[in-house]
Amino acid sequence: MIYTKALKNNIFSLISTCAEELNLECYVIGGFVRDYIIKKSIPKDIDIVVVGDGIEFANYVSKKIKNTPKVTIFKTYGTAMFRFNDLEIEFVGARKESYNKESRNPMVVTGTLEDDQNRRDFTINSMAFSLNKKNYGALVDPFNGLKDIENKLIKTPLNPEITYNDDPLRMLRAIRFATKLNFKIDNSSLKSIDSLSSRIKIITEERIVVELNKILLTNKPSIGFILLEKCGLLKYILPEITSLKGVDEIEGQTHKDNFYHTLEVLDNICKQTNDLWLRWAALLHDIGKAPTKRFSKKVGWTFHGHEFEGSKMVYHLFKRLKLPLNDKMKYVQKLVFMSSRPIVLAQDIVTDSAVRRLVFDAGNYVDDLMTLCEADITTKNEKKFIKYHNNFKMVRNKIVEVEERDNIRNFQPPITGQEIMTTFKVKPSKVIGTLKEIIKEAILEGDIPNEYNAAYELMINEAKKLGLKK
Ligand code: CTP
Repeated sequence: MIYTKALKNNIFSLISTCAEELNLECYVIGGFVRDYIIKKSIPKDIDIVVVGDGIEFANYVSKKIKNTPKVTIFKTYGTAMFRFNDLEIEFVGARKESYNKESRNPMVVTGTLEDDQNRRDFTINSMAFSLNKKNYGALVDPFNGLKDIENKLIKTPLNPEITYNDDPLRMLRAIRFATKLNFKIDNSSLKSIDSLSSRIKIITEERIVVELNKILLTNKPSIGFILLEKCGLLKYILPEITSLKGVDEIEGQTHKDNFYHTLEVLDNICKQTNDLWLRWAALLHDIGKAPTKRFSKKVGWTFHGHEFEGSKMVYHLFKRLKLPLNDKMKYVQKLVFMSSRPIVLAQDIVTDSAVRRLVFDAGNYVDDLMTLCEADITTKNEKKFIKYHNNFKMVRNKIVEVEERDNIRNFQPPITGQEIMTTFKVKPSKVIGTLKEIIKEAILEGDIPNEYNAAYELMINEAKKLGLKK
């Protein structure tokens, strides 16, 4: 089969001409070929493999382009890259590669195209399109990647033990591709991942997180997390999630399996949002349940304070995985901390003041919090399911109403501490905090509107009771 349609962009014919001028063999390989065959769309990332020196070749090609693009060289990997319009083109020399056992740093030895193909991770990532004049656009597929695409199979070109040992990150990549493409992982691969899972420890957190984020950004991340757990990888990466697994029974009383519940919430939220951090919040919203789980004869299973515990765990987890410890982490923490608040509202009659308090506490995160809590409705009782969703709709409507009227989000007290001090000629003291709190509470309770005049009047009356004079 000839794939010239994939190679319509002028850059390919230019690369082809350059290769001929230098008398080198040259191919497009990897993700470009895979995604073109699967999706029929033309990817923006292009990996070029040349049987020769990849860096020299990249420099040669770049010089033939008007305004010579800047070539970035990655010496350790023997690769070079430049941008051409909206494309990112990476060049590498074909190699036989074996990896250093204790890290994934490769020790590079030059090789043929086939050497290069069989050291790659999966058969579907080893396919190449020829850029050579004699068979331009031909698919070079010695490991039957095309067949594995048809059979929806993730398979390694070599014995999987070798492929995964060479670079243990590939165990995560296998799961990521299986999740994203909805492919099965070949049985012998699954067995190898299972037996090599502890090798994931030599991989840096940054690279692990890239794969985790990619799994989280698929349509149905539960596929990936179930595989991670089954292959024994999850306990090394996210032990907090592994701990949620299982159902305990004491005196005939059980609780739900919080691992599968979490994954259901995660899949639910993915139908509503593409936001990575909101998806992280869904994944982590119940992590405090493992350490807070208790049983008492009176009330059965409880997870008191799991939201607070969970929000503290978010920090440690982010730190360990080298995720950003910035506002993204605070956002996830806050959502985890508040994750049970709206559900309480959804079970009762929703009062204005409860909604006002919710908006006050959640601030700008209130809409995302509602999205998380809607996703958290996993009851199989249809009546309850409908009731909770309807109540949440009411809560959402009330949030809009309260917002229009009371402007509670990003609440700024209508009376400042400074004004209290000048009005009553007092120095900074406890009484100022007390008055501010009374005013805030009155607004949240709906006793007064969130307005200056009403707040001023209340301040005067309350100050009198506290013995202050104007
Ligand atoms: N590759 C590999 N082993 C790895 C990483 C990459 O063999 N641990 C090879 C595969 O042939 C892969 C190619 O390098 O197709 C490019 O890798 P990368 O850009 O990371 O991934 P893509 O396959 O392009 O897919 P995606 O962009 O979705 O990550």
